Amino acid sequence: MLKEIFEQPRSILDSMRGRLVAETSHLVMASVIEFENKFKNADRIIIVACGTSWHAGLVAEYLIEEFARVPVEVEYASEFRYRNPIIKEGDIVIAISQSGETADTLAAIELAKSKGAMIFGVCNVVGSSIARATDAGAYTHAGPEIGVASTKAFTAQVTVLTLLAMMIAEKRGTIETSMLRQLMMEMEQIPAKVERALQLDTEIKVISEIFKDAANFLYLGRGFNFPVALEGALKLKEISYIHAEGYPAAEMKHGPIALIDANMPVVVIATKDSSYEKIVSNIQEVKARKGRIIAIVTEGDTVIPEMAEFVIEVPDTHEALTPLLSVIPLQLLSYHIAVMRGCNVDQPRNLAKSVTVE
Ligand code: M6R
Repeated sequence: MLKEIFEQPRSILDSMRGRLVAETSHLVMASVIEFENKFKNADRIIIVACGTSWHAGLVAEYLIEEFARVPVEVEYASEFRYRNPIIKEGDIVIAISQSGETADTLAAIELAKSKGAMIFGVCNVVGSSIARATDAGAYTHAGPEIGVASTKAFTAQVTVLTLLAMMIAEKRGTIETSMLRQLMMEMEQIPAKVERALQLDTEIKVISEIFKDAANFLYLGRGFNFPVALEGALKLKEISYIHAEGYPAAEMKHGPIALIDANMPVVVIATKDSSYEKIVSNIQEVKARKGRIIAIVTEGDTVIPEMAEFVIEVPDTHEALTPLLSVIPLQLLSYHIAVMRGCNVDQPRNLAKSVTVE
């Protein structure tokens, strides 16, 4: 798992290679060009996936709605396939899967296909069942992911989905050229920034030692980083067996706030973005109840360090790209806590790498 976490600068780069060159404004995904009219005219995009891939789908919902202005629904494949979903011919279904073998995602694709939707796959394993079942797609090029806990596949998925959102926006004319160029330039810098975030490893190991015996964890995020909160919680529970929940930070006051006391570690993703002021007040709410705050902030933040017990600084980037950086410390935190608790991080109990049963 650690090896795969550290491979991310490379796997993100590989997932962009040939598809994006900011200097020449080159943004190409062959399958989007092939189905250009479908993407231009789609009334709706439905994303189906499971687990970590579903979290990548949630990030994509924010990206596609923000830039391409197409309504997006993100569905657990296992729920989608067992109800009677409304799918129309103008719909595009994006199926996300690292393994390309997840039974529920495959069944959701077959269902959507039978109702006339165009299926676009985002898979890592070349020639996998899902890759073969789709009409078009874009591979993630993360390389083989062996650890049961998905790490580099997640960031590769988010990378490809970001490029996809940018391309759909460009085709639909919903993004300013200057904004598109800025995003492309920021995107190109992501691998180097992930490399910098990985240098936080020693610092995160120290924090892990302090919290390794906690019974529960709460993860909070807003906007683009709400799915990252879910992903951080999933990573911790699946490899360390600590109960963890992810929430949109503003939802806290509708229930989870009752859990907060001096024994509750609360990981807050609070990078500098459009909801920064709001998340600062959420941190204050946690602090007032003596929760132990571990905040993921943007480098140079001077406000949150005054409030949080621990801060972990990630490099600055465009708000829409922050998930690619903010997830790195969460992966490392889970990894170190799990190792310190004597867990087998590569093969956690009760879990399989590909869930090929329903
Ligand atoms: O291969 P897939 O991406 O379709 O797998 C989906 C989930 O089973 C997977 O992401 C699972 O949640 C991981 N163990 C999470 O780390």
